[in-house]
Amino acid sequence: MTPREIRYSNTRHLGLTVWMFDEVPSTNDLAARFALDPARIGTVFVAANQTHGRGQYGRIWQARPGSSLLLSVLLAPPIKLRRPVILTAWAAVAIAEAISELAGVEARIKWPNDLLIGGKKVSGILIEQGAGVVVGLGLNLNQTVEEFAEAELRDATSLGIANGSNIDPALALGTVVRHLDDGYTRLLAGEHRDLESRWKRRSGLLGQSVRIELNDGSARVGRLRDMSFDGVEIETGEFAIDAIRPESIRGMTANRLA
Ligand code: BTN
Repeated sequence: MTPREIRYSNTRHLGLTVWMFDEVPSTNDLAARFALDPARIGTVFVAANQTHGRGQYGRIWQARPGSSLLLSVLLAPPIKLRRPVILTAWAAVAIAEAISELAGVEARIKWPNDLLIGGKKVSGILIEQGAGVVVGLGLNLNQTVEEFAEAELRDATSLGIANGSNIDPALALGTVVRHLDDGYTRLLAGEHRDLESRWKRRSGLLGQSVRIELNDGSARVGRLRDMSFDGVEIETGEFAIDAIRPESIRGMTANRLA
C-alpha cells in the first residue's frame, strides 16, 4: 500500500503533503493512525476507493471507485478550534466554495454536515477527534442520475450532474484543499465571524420555520431568527449549541421537513 505523493506549494497548513492511494479501508482510519506523528499533521490522505468508507452515526459511505473525491486531513488545531460546530462549518463552507468554483452552482449546507445541490446530497463530512483531529469528506464528482437510481440513492447528486460535464478529480482535489487551507488559515488567525456569516448564508435557514430537537428529548418549532457558533435563536427561545441534538435542525416547508 505505497501511496503516490504530491505536494501543493500554494497552501500553508494542509496539503503540503498529499498521499494518494488506489484503495484503503477508510481514509479517516488511515489518517487517525498517524495522529501521534507531528510530521504528518496537515497531510491529506486521498483514496480512489474505500472498502470500509464510513459516514456519520456508523453509516456506510459507498462510492464507485474513482467516482468521488474521498479524502481525510489530519490536523492538530488549538483547543479553541476543537469544537464540532466550528470544524464542521469550516469544512462545509470550504467544500461549498470549491463546488461553486468547480461546477458554477451554489450548494446549501444541511445542518450539520451535508452539502446539498437542488435539495440532493452531494457531499458529507465526518470529523473525528482522538489524539488528533481527522476531517474526512466525500464529494460526489462523476456519478450519473442512472447510477444513483440503480443504487437507490435518489436523494444524491454529483457535481457532474449539476454541471452537465465531467469534473477532473485532480482539479477537484486541488480546489477543495485550497479552500480548506484558506479557511483554516483564517480560523487560526482568529477570524471566526467571517466563517460564521458564510456558514449562516449557506445554511439557507434564516427566517425559515425550523424544528429543533434538544438533548432533553423535547423539540421546538419556530422561525429561525439567528444562528451562531454559540447557539440558535428562534421565535420561542434561545438554545445553546451544546443543548441541540446533532442532525436535528430542519427547515419545515408546508408541513414537510426539508
Ligand atoms: C456522512 O455524510 O455521513 C459523512 C460521510 C463522510 C465520508 C468520507 S469519505 C472519506 C472519509 N473516509 C471515511 O471513511 N469517511 C469519510
